[in-house]
Amino acid sequence: MEKVVLAFSGGLDTSVCVKLLQEKYDMEVITACVDVGQPEDEIKKPELAAEKIGTDKHYTIDAKEEFAKDYAFRCIKTNALYEGYPLSTAFARPLIAKKIVEIAEKENATTIAHGCTGKGNDQFRFEATIRAESDVNIVAPVRDYNLTRTEEQDYAREHGIPLPSEKIYSIDENLWGRSIEGGLLEDPTVEAPEDIYEWTKSIDDAPEEAQVIKIEFVKGEPVKIDGEELSPVDLIRKANEIAGEHGVGRIDMIEDRIIGLKSRENYETPGAILLITAHAALEKLVFSREEIKFAENISQKYAELVYDGYWNEPLREDLDIVNDHMQERVTGWVEVRLHKGSLKVITKQSPYSLHNLDSVSFEDKEIIDQREMIGMVKYHDIQGAEYFKVNKKE
Ligand code: ARG
Repeated sequence: MEKVVLAFSGGLDTSVCVKLLQEKYDMEVITACVDVGQPEDEIKKPELAAEKIGTDKHYTIDAKEEFAKDYAFRCIKTNALYEGYPLSTAFARPLIAKKIVEIAEKENATTIAHGCTGKGNDQFRFEATIRAESDVNIVAPVRDYNLTRTEEQDYAREHGIPLPSEKIYSIDENLWGRSIEGGLLEDPTVEAPEDIYEWTKSIDDAPEEAQVIKIEFVKGEPVKIDGEELSPVDLIRKANEIAGEHGVGRIDMIEDRIIGLKSRENYETPGAILLITAHAALEKLVFSREEIKFAENISQKYAELVYDGYWNEPLREDLDIVNDHMQERVTGWVEVRLHKGSLKVITKQSPYSLHNLDSVSFEDKEIIDQREMIGMVKYHDIQGAEYFKVNKKE
């Protein structure tokens, strides 16, 4: 019998995959769940589900620290947002794929399977990484059988697969964020109900009192919150807690998927929004005007590459190299005030700051002698003046 390693979350799609792989593909199924910081019970759930459905072996791989340091922190350092979404699902995919490839090698499996449907982005992301990093075959049973969610539920019932409790929505969760899709959320004319949220308070329930926190960065990476030094995983968790408590980080958007479909997406990414906002504010203090403009291009391109699953595209590495060099000076602290869904950077400082209080001050007359500006001002927009004279003046 051929061996297959299935990336397994214990949710509906991947649970159906186990049975399909056994019945229709006639394969020995090894399930693997990669821990990228989803809640404790989301790690236990696949373990129990694998046992219940009956797989040949189940792996749980702890990749939390790697995910935080090498993926989520890259999102902070590049301020990467895709149409406003901090890419929490997208950043996790290449890492999950890499870990699944490692297990397939260890187990001498001929095939890797994933539970993606044929309409989403994850099929592209998983398969691009798996193909780059391994020569195994890839199968996607839900896609192969063109199953709808209702058909999957029927199949699960018929085969005694325990139906996951949150069956109305499709939820993907990790340390960097929570993605909620499907069910009534598919219709953009319907307001997202309060019960889809778990990490963030509503504005009504958020504390009346504002909270100010101080985040310290070293070389573009957050290292301390309110003076407390934290590991990357703990720091992101803390950022999620604090920002979530104040109702920051809910995103309800129309997103353009890789295949071009527009879809209504909901996210909770409180920590990501907090840390990216603070980080970007510090860059503004440290970077030159040219660097700021260039960094915007990096953010945009980086987000596109990660969203599209181009993790192994050389440009992604090139951008990291340039950006890491720029981040060498992004050291300092930022204070943020959180209150009732709002997030405001209130103060910031860095030893590499290019902001010179003495020269910018209205009180200075020595560092910049105003009279010396006369010539510089006189020829400003010289081409605009020429154009106006030639074209607009009667
Ligand atoms: N649209 C998002 C992305 O492509 C999230 C997908 C989340 N997946 C899910 N099963 N809810 O990155």
